[in-house]
Amino acid sequence: MSSVEFSMDGQSLITPESMAAEVASPANSQLNETELALARTELALVLNIANQQFEQKTDPAMIIARTASALHTIRIKSSPLVWQALIAIAQAHPVSQYFRQDPFTRWSYDKPRGYSGDAQLLDFIYGHESVADEIARSTPLGLALYDYTKDASSSVAVRERRDILTQYVDEIAGSRGPQAEILTIAAGHLREANRSKALAEGRLKRWVALDQDPISIGSIARDFAGTCIEPVEGSVRDVFTDRHNLGKFDFVYASGLYDYLNDKVSIKLTRKCMDMLKPNGVFLFANFAEDIIVDGYMETFMNWALLLRTEEDMWRIIRGSTEEGQVEAQVRFGANRNIVYGLIRKLS
Ligand SMILES: C[S@@+](CC[C@H](N)C(=O)[O-])C[C@H]1O[C@@H](n2cnc3c(N)ncnc32)[C@H](O)[C@@H]1O
Repeated sequence: MSSVEFSMDGQSLITPESMAAEVASPANSQLNETELALARTELALVLNIANQQFEQKTDPAMIIARTASALHTIRIKSSPLVWQALIAIAQAHPVSQYFRQDPFTRWSYDKPRGYSGDAQLLDFIYGHESVADEIARSTPLGLALYDYTKDASSSVAVRERRDILTQYVDEIAGSRGPQAEILTIAAGHLREANRSKALAEGRLKRWVALDQDPISIGSIARDFAGTCIEPVEGSVRDVFTDRHNLGKFDFVYASGLYDYLNDKVSIKLTRKCMDMLKPNGVFLFANFAEDIIVDGYMETFMNWALLLRTEEDMWRIIRGSTEEGQVEAQVRFGANRNIVYGLIRKLS
């Protein structure tokens, strides 16, 4: 881990520690030692069995599926403070050395870019060539585990999210004509642009892609040189302060960002994005849904904490950031309900 400063203010980056402080605020809760002792025993049983199975060369897909499901169940039953204690215990367990042979799990755990959820991590889900070297240097066990993690329900949902974004961009380009302007916030590597027909056919006026990570911005600049895509190195806070004078857009969206923003920042950002829309413009924000099956595995062995949201949580953000009568809004799930989408159309 690098020593980058972290918080949830829209400027700094996110660590599991800052997320833990968000979800398990000690202000109104106290660690229940009895609950912890029981949960610890249950966790030890699950992890010891997994460890034994790895030693006995049981099918890795079976081990990881069973462990992920058991971690999910323990997570649901546990109070936030107990679960936070269990995360540290799981990470220190000898079985973690097996799970970390999966190149996707290892990248997430090691955080080579110094924060959780970087664009390169998503490339393990997209199966992009940028991760080919990491995959090539994995052990046979690591590859078998990756076969499971790359097709876990959350990964399937992330690939669908990318395709939904491409579809929206192309639809907006179709309905608005060649003046269509798009803004992507927290663009990562902007992989959704690869399949956009509107982009390939030069039917967009501009597509601004903003991200705080200079490496990701460099990747966009290289991959989309000569197109209407304008990479901008900047943070959510820069959006708040209009640092880059980005202008107005027909479609603004953020995917893989709200999962790291608390409600206060999410509402502020949504309000700001609505301000940046032209009349009849659309804002979309995506969030991993509450109760996804892989939540426990992600938080322990991947050390990848997310703020998971319900449909009602999404509506709270929408209601907190818009005026009734001025917008049309909907909240919908992706096909396997691992990701939830908020969509807001500005009426005037
Ligand atoms: C999980 S990736 C999502 C990338 C892409 N949108 C996708 O869906 O594949 C999250 C991205 O958010 C960016 N990010 C995180 N916090 C940010 C902030 N405060 N301001 C701007 N970008 C941020 C990271 O640099 C990273 O590229």
